Amino acid sequence: MKKQVGIEALAIAVPRRYVDIEDLARARGVDPAKYTAGLGAKEMAVADPGEDSVSLAATAAARLIQRNGVDPSRLGMLVVGTETGVDHSKPVASHVQGLLKLPRTMRTFDTQHACYGGTAGLMAATEWIASGAAAGRSAIVICSDIARYGLNTAGEPTQGGGAVALLVSEQPDLLAVDLGLNGACSMDVYDFWRPLGRREAVVDGHYSISCYLDALSGAYRGWRERALAHEVVRWGEKLPGEQLERILYHVPFCKMARKAHTQLRLCDLEDAPGTRDSTPAAREEAAKSSASYEAQVASSLGLNARIGNVYTASLYLALAGLLNGESAALAGKRIGLLSYGSGCAAEFYSGVVGEGAARRMAQTDVEAVLARRERVSVEEYERIMRLSSDAPEQLAPAPGEFRLAEIREHRRIYAAG
Ligand code: CAA
Repeated sequence: MKKQVGIEALAIAVPRRYVDIEDLARARGVDPAKYTAGLGAKEMAVADPGEDSVSLAATAAARLIQRNGVDPSRLGMLVVGTETGVDHSKPVASHVQGLLKLPRTMRTFDTQHACYGGTAGLMAATEWIASGAAAGRSAIVICSDIARYGLNTAGEPTQGGGAVALLVSEQPDLLAVDLGLNGACSMDVYDFWRPLGRREAVVDGHYSISCYLDALSGAYRGWRERALAHEVVRWGEKLPGEQLERILYHVPFCKMARKAHTQLRLCDLEDAPGTRDSTPAAREEAAKSSASYEAQVASSLGLNARIGNVYTASLYLALAGLLNGESAALAGKRIGLLSYGSGCAAEFYSGVVGEGAARRMAQTDVEAVLARRERVSVEEYERIMRLSSDAPEQLAPAPGEFRLAEIREHRRIYAAG
């Protein structure tokens, strides 16, 4: 039997505070429906300087290891995908290794390509294991980011923060990746970026949406070509994309997943052999199908709507949201996943949900992680946003969590709860 490789388990970490998105809209003099219906948001995670990409990554990885009884000596690779690292040289992964006292006999490194960095790390780990070079060892891939555009900007309601840690192995209880079917598309564009030394991203918002959709088309068509060749999908009454039980997208804000799904359907409708939906207007109308969006996409967005953008982790929050609610029903079913990072790179891949997914998701206790958060006022959110990134508030970390305690002689010192 062909070797199965993919995600065995996952865990999430989120900042301890959030703001209600309607409160934010009212404070900005905006109709709340723009943020709720227009962007698809409900709540937005608010990270304080003690909750940086290291502390969130370490908290998520510690949860992953502890709740799934991972034997650290099984690990041969620790990768952190992030675009909000804390040092130009020392990777987040080395901090996590130290904080969790993980073995020295591992490869540790960060991967960066905006929000695509986590998927780059996941593919490096998956293909390392599939190649046989891992010799039976597993990898941890962590996606950790703080999405920050700044007060009173157009991007403000699409901020957020958090981390998702993935255990990658030859026992893919959550998702067995369809090795070799991946489609990739990359281009040199300035749609969203963060020059060195800046805390806030610079973004050409509407252009970034069109870059995302353009790159999605290339990546999806690449996957579809291989999936057709391997008879994983076929042209028929159902479009190739409709043959995937669910499709997960990179979610900078929830409405983007709807736009992305329309674009993916348009790719199928434009390329379908024969005369089906033969005019551009008919194809555009069919692409927008609400029934298809509801059936294939909507159920994955619950966590994204409550946390906001988490850059590299957003796609994997959608995976956690989907499997949290539907893992038993989806066991044995194939889903598609679209990762997008500005700059830009997109990758579409697929995988089959494992029989052990429901058991694994019960360990992640996603609801409990969110339930511990505190809702803060817009005034408190603004106070936190104005705090200096190198002077964290002296708050005790919750049990099992990590926080940046201080920076002494340019060294970051973390406290464990
Ligand atoms: N009631 C209901 N809906 C309303 C409304 C109201 N009163 N007012 C406006 N809307 C709708 C609009 O019609 C629009 O919907 P459609 O896109 O479906 O037409 C939606 O609300 C947003 O309105 P605007 O486009 O006018 O909003 P905006 O210009 O203020 O900003 C944004 C939107 C460009 C997404 C901005 O929030 C932004 O720049 N965000 C950051 C960039 C981003 O997330 N880009 C995504 C692609 S890049 C990527 O994916 C990488 C990444 O993670 C950053």
